[in-house]
Amino acid sequence: MGKKGAGNHITRREFIKSAAIGIGLAATSPLTLAAPKTKRTRPSRNKLKIPKTISANNHLMVASPTISDIGGGRSSKVLAYKSFPAPTLTARSGETVSIKLRNKLQQETITHWHGMMVDTPNDGGPQEAILPGESYGYQFEINQRAAFNWYHPHPHMLTGEQVNLGMAGGFIIRDAEEDALQLPTGKYEIPLIIRDAAFDGHGNLMYVPDPQGFFGNTPLVNGTLSPTQAVDRGVYRFRALNGANARVFRIGLSNNQQMTLIGNDGGLLAQPSNLTTITLGPAERLDLLIDFTALNAGATLMLRDFDSGWDLLEFVGTGLNGYAYQTPPNLSVIDPLDGPTDVTRNFEFFGHNLINGQSFEMDRIDFQVPFGVVERWQFYAFTAGPHPIHVHGASFQVMSRQGGRNRVFDWERGWKDTILLQSQETVDVLIRFDRHRGRFLLHCHNLEHEDMGMMSNFEVV
Ligand code: C2O
Ligand code: CU
Ligand code: CU
Repeated sequence: MGKKGAGNHITRREFIKSAAIGIGLAATSPLTLAAPKTKRTRPSRNKLKIPKTISANNHLMVASPTISDIGGGRSSKVLAYKSFPAPTLTARSGETVSIKLRNKLQQETITHWHGMMVDTPNDGGPQEAILPGESYGYQFEINQRAAFNWYHPHPHMLTGEQVNLGMAGGFIIRDAEEDALQLPTGKYEIPLIIRDAAFDGHGNLMYVPDPQGFFGNTPLVNGTLSPTQAVDRGVYRFRALNGANARVFRIGLSNNQQMTLIGNDGGLLAQPSNLTTITLGPAERLDLLIDFTALNAGATLMLRDFDSGWDLLEFVGTGLNGYAYQTPPNLSVIDPLDGPTDVTRNFEFFGHNLINGQSFEMDRIDFQVPFGVVERWQFYAFTAGPHPIHVHGASFQVMSRQGGRNRVFDWERGWKDTILLQSQETVDVLIRFDRHRGRFLLHCHNLEHEDMGMMSNFEVV
C-alpha cells in the first residue's frame, strides 16, 4: 500500500525543492506572490474559531479538500479533516477508541496521533499510507496520562504539504489526576493551534516548500486571521500547539504579564512555573493558565510572538466574572527515569535531510531498542537548525543541553515527545519504550526536513 520506489523519491524530492503548490491552482512563483491584504490601519479583528470538541470514539474522519472561512469575510481552499482546524478529539485514559479515516484527497495520506502511545498499526506512519478512496481503521487503548496531543497526516514526502494546507487537530486525553485539580474547563479551556501561512493571489492557502522549512508571512491561530477572543475576569486554560511546519514561536503577552505553565507535551508538570516568554518549536505543546481578572471591560491584551513581532491573538475583556482559580503548588508527580549516565546512542542531525549520515528509507530499520530498558539518547545538530526532534512510541525526559542555549528550560521539564535543537546544541534525554514493541519513527518535525528524509525507522524489540 502506497510504497514508493527510489526513482519516485527523487522526483518528489526535486518537486519539494522547487515547487509552489496551491490547491487546484497552477503553481505560482513565490517571488510574484501578492502579500495578503493586511488591515494595518483598521484594527478590526476576527472572532477566534474554536474547533468543535468531539469524542474520539466511533469517529469517522474524512480527509478532503474543502473551503474554510478564515475570518474577515475571507475564505480559503484547504485540505481538512472536516474543518480547519480539525475537531478537537477527546478520550479518557483507559478508554478504547475506534476511529476510521477515509481518504477523499487526490493523494495518499495517513493520520498519525502525535504524542499517543499506540502500537505500530495504529501509529499512522508513512508505511501505513492509504490511496485516494481508501479507508483505514484505527483502534487503540488510551494508555497514558492526561495530555494535549494532536493528529496530523504522515505520508512520506507529503506531510509538509498536507499539514500546511490545513490538516491538523488537537487530541485531549483526560484522567482522574487532572480532574482533581479542577482546572478551568468548558468555555474557559481553549485550544490554540498557532502556525504561519502563505496565501496566493486568490487568498487561498499556498504551500511553498523550501529546504530550510516553510516560512509564511501571516500568522493563523485556529485557522483564523487576526483573531480576537472575549475573556471574562478570571483564569483561562489554553492548550497551545505550535502547528507550524518549521517556525519557532517565542510567545508572551503584550503587557509582559506572567503566564502560568502547568503542562507540556506529556501532560502536567510536577510544579507550575510563571513565565513571561516561552519558546515553542514545531509540534511542541503547552498547558498554560492566563489570569484576566485585571482586564477591564473593553480593555485588550495581545498574545505575541516576540521573534517575528507578530500579534497572534487579541484578548478583549468582557468585564464579567469568570472562573477564579488558585494554581496549587504541586500539580503532579513525575517519577524521574533512572537511566545510564553514558550515552546509549547518538543521533547527529546534519543539513536538511540527514540523521547519522543517512536519509529516510521506507523499508530500512536503522536500529533496535530493547523493550522496557531506559536508554540515554543524545541528539546533536551540526547545521541547519533549529531541528525539533520528535520520537514516536515513547515520551522522554530531558537531562541536559550543552552548547548554544546551554540549559534545559522550564517548559522542557516533565515528559516530552519533541525537543528543540538549535545548531551546535547537544541534548541528552532518557527514554524507555514500555508500551508497545514494533516499528516506530524518530524524525525532525521541521516538516520539510522530514519530507526530505530527516527521519529514521527503528524497532522496539
Ligand atoms: Cu507529529 Cu512523526 O509526527
Ligand atoms: Cu508523533
Ligand atoms: Cu530539521
